[in-house]
Amino acid sequence: MSKERMKLKLKVWRQNGPNEKGKIETYKVSDISPDSSFLEMMDILNEQLINEGKEPVEFDHDCREGICGSCSMFINGEAHGPGKRMTTCQLHMRKFNDGDTITIEPWKAKGFPVIKDLMVDRTAFDRIMSAGGFISVNTSGNTQDANAIPINKHDADKAMDAATCIGCGACVATCKNASAMLFVSAKVSQFALLPQGQVEAVERVQNMVKQMDKEGFGNCSNTGACEVECPKGISLENIARMNREYLKSGMG
Ligand code: SF4
Ligand code: FES
Repeated sequence: MSKERMKLKLKVWRQNGPNEKGKIETYKVSDISPDSSFLEMMDILNEQLINEGKEPVEFDHDCREGICGSCSMFINGEAHGPGKRMTTCQLHMRKFNDGDTITIEPWKAKGFPVIKDLMVDRTAFDRIMSAGGFISVNTSGNTQDANAIPINKHDADKAMDAATCIGCGACVATCKNASAMLFVSAKVSQFALLPQGQVEAVERVQNMVKQMDKEGFGNCSNTGACEVECPKGISLENIARMNREYLKSGMG
């Protein structure tokens, strides 16, 4: 039998701007369907706040299907909430019970300053990508078809697994050192495993690691918490691969 509609108490982080002091505010919502998504529940809260003449809660979202990585929320102390291998937008209210209190906070990390309420600035990840997360291809018209270069299935699969990282930042938010190693290692690995990535391999790993450090992300804590909370199951073996790439580049 499906669950009844729910009444919930929400403890939500409210912060007016990057340099403002934030605090938890408590709200009540009712008549929440267990079949609605977590973000739909947040939409209901915001409609209620607007109807009461109050400011709605700012939060980031775009695709609402686990692809864009923007719905960064810390729910009851867990990045993306209680579900495993899912983003906040894929989380449904059936994971909660009538009468529950849910605490909702933004990612908290030096590299991800709060813009407002639950919305954080994740452009540090964009700058890390700009530093080396690409391959340079001559597009003069004589470009070789990518499929003309044979790649063994094992490497192709591992590269594809690494490429599923959506840049959500849950790894950073979960790590006690706010390390971005899992994210950066996925972005290094997706190229390190392919022949097309070899040409710029040395500069790539050096430049991406340099930018990661410049953005204020901490050292790897070696606890593996990032892997557990990653919605895409990015493996810690990517961090080992990035460390090897870094050593090979002469920076070890
Ligand atoms: S490694 Fe996982 S948790 Fe980290 S940014 Fe990529 S998808 Fe998100
Ligand atoms: S809104 Fe795109 S991954 Fe959640």
